[in-house]
Amino acid sequence: MAKRVETRVAVVGYGYWGSKHVRVLSTMPDVDVVVVDEHAERLEEAVAYYPSVERTATSLADVLDDVDAVLVATPPAGHADIALQAINAGKHVLVEKPMATSVADAEAMVLAAAVQGVQLMVGHTFEYNAAVRQLRDIIRSGTLGRVLYIDSARLSLGRYQRDVNVIWDLAPHDISIASFLLDELPVAASVWGDRNVTPWREDVAYLRLDFPQTRAFVHVSWLNPNKVRRTTVVGERKMAVYDDMSDNERIRIYDIGVDPSSIDDPHSAHERPVSYRTGDIVSPFVPFHEPLMAQDRAFVDSVRTGVASETPGERGLDIVRVLAATDAALVTGRTAPVLKPSQIVPGVRAVS
Ligand SMILES: NC(=O)c1ccc[n+]([C@@H]2O[C@H](COP(=O)([O-])OP(=O)(O)OC[C@H]3O[C@@H](n4cnc5c(N)ncnc54)[C@H](O)[C@@H]3O)[C@@H](O)[C@H]2O)c1
Repeated sequence: MAKRVETRVAVVGYGYWGSKHVRVLSTMPDVDVVVVDEHAERLEEAVAYYPSVERTATSLADVLDDVDAVLVATPPAGHADIALQAINAGKHVLVEKPMATSVADAEAMVLAAAVQGVQLMVGHTFEYNAAVRQLRDIIRSGTLGRVLYIDSARLSLGRYQRDVNVIWDLAPHDISIASFLLDELPVAASVWGDRNVTPWREDVAYLRLDFPQTRAFVHVSWLNPNKVRRTTVVGERKMAVYDDMSDNERIRIYDIGVDPSSIDDPHSAHERPVSYRTGDIVSPFVPFHEPLMAQDRAFVDSVRTGVASETPGERGLDIVRVLAATDAALVTGRTAPVLKPSQIVPGVRAVS
């Protein structure tokens, strides 16, 4: 039976992550995938793995006229130029995280998409993760009580990147997860980072993100023996742990807590200054839907309907503003404010 193609998507960058996009898009009966990579051998591999990929190119310009949308999965420093090339040609764009490597570039992308009237979406994959969504529902239901703090860790013997440090590579996930869970953005960032293996990029970092009502502590590392993807939400009543590495207990809710005792009471002066509460540990069922599939489906749907996805360009810009604050904090050694969006001046950035 002939394929019912309604949306043609060019995936630019067939590397580690772009190949996964090609895999999920290839399963969609209404999508035709074109693969673009500047290295011809990558294209040969794409065609060998995915026979449904009928067209490839070493340059986006060669196929731009023939597609509806472009998915940018190249290293981050190239995101803005490729996305702007596509947007200015009137194409819808999904760009991987981090959306850009500067606030100015991210703003230019958001503005260009608005001027051209196209969809701009950012690949914050965890916002399409069923466990993260369920954890947000748990927080919103009040089960945990007031959130005292969030702690998250994204560690492994990681893929060292050429153009960004470990914060820009991994922390977009933790920042997007924390702000998704809390439904607000950090207002300031503090950072401790170290360059252990190469002299030019931090490969281990600790972040403190100050949200209006609470704080998130984020540990990211390319230099750790264990793969860890874990978010802990400590509430006044209960605590929850989301472990993305767990097969069947991705969320655990601990009925556990600590209450302060009265230290002024002379009769209890010898006791601990707190009392402990312990109870059940419950692991709710989380249905498994591949987050990347859900995200890319949302992109194709937004292209088709003209309705913005849940992670539009503005959301990507918000996370880039937080990342820019981490740069400032790293340089100064002080807490840096997350700057408000600057006044976007109409006009489309030229592609360099
Ligand atoms: N959402 C997620 O969970 C997730 C996970 C991993 C990576 N990523 C993101 O995906 C992006 C790609 O990361 P990766 O690890 O796959 O990188 P990679 O280095 O493995 O692959 C990049 C590919 O892009 C190609 N390329 C570079 N510039 C190009 C250009 N101008 N035109 C055509 N092809 C070009 C390279 O030849 C390479 O094949 C990054 O932004 C990364 O942060 C996202």
